Amino acid sequence: MDQQNSFKDTIKAVHRILMTAFAFVGIVAVLLIFVMIDPDMSSLKLNPGGEYVVVEEVDEDRIVDGIHEASGLIDAEGLMTVVNNCTNCHSAKIIIQNRMNEERWAATIDWMQETQNLWDLGGNEEIIIQYLVKNYPPKKVGRRAALTNIDWYELK
Ligand code: HEC
Repeated sequence: MDQQNSFKDTIKAVHRILMTAFAFVGIVAVLLIFVMIDPDMSSLKLNPGGEYVVVEEVDEDRIVDGIHEASGLIDAEGLMTVVNNCTNCHSAKIIIQNRMNEERWAATIDWMQETQNLWDLGGNEEIIIQYLVKNYPPKKVGRRAALTNIDWYELK
């Protein structure tokens, strides 16, 4: 009985060793085939064929013709304070399209603080308001703009 058991154990051990060896050989074979088909392992790379998509780097601070390119805001004192506090929730376009006097800019900021979760701006509030009134004051409405490009037609 004992002998039979130890014979069984031996068979089991040999079987295990063989299976391990087969598995090992199998893995090596798969790897070899893989290397033969794709020697430079390009299929493992994210960008097969080496065609790189060139993403144009946006320089966050670039000023072109007096305009902060990334936001479209006028380059002036306080610009970065405005960019850092006022372009998080909406685009700067909403600022550019709105021209107001000091009082109304302050009121708009108060409104956002009360209803839109705009944070306390601390000492930056004055910098921001000054930037806004200087660069985005109300449009002067007075004399209408001169007409240009008029298509005159002859009376018959
Ligand atoms: C916490 C988010 C948040 C921040 C930061 C923020 N705003 Fe706003 N703001 C809003 C929301 C929300 C609206 C409403 C947007 C809409 O109507 O589509 C808004 C609207 C506006 C408007 C339009 C107001 C109107 O009457 O239509 C202006 C101008 C404006 N924001 C300027 C600013 C300025 C200047 C700053 C920097 C001090 C700023 N925002 C920062 C959330 C924010």
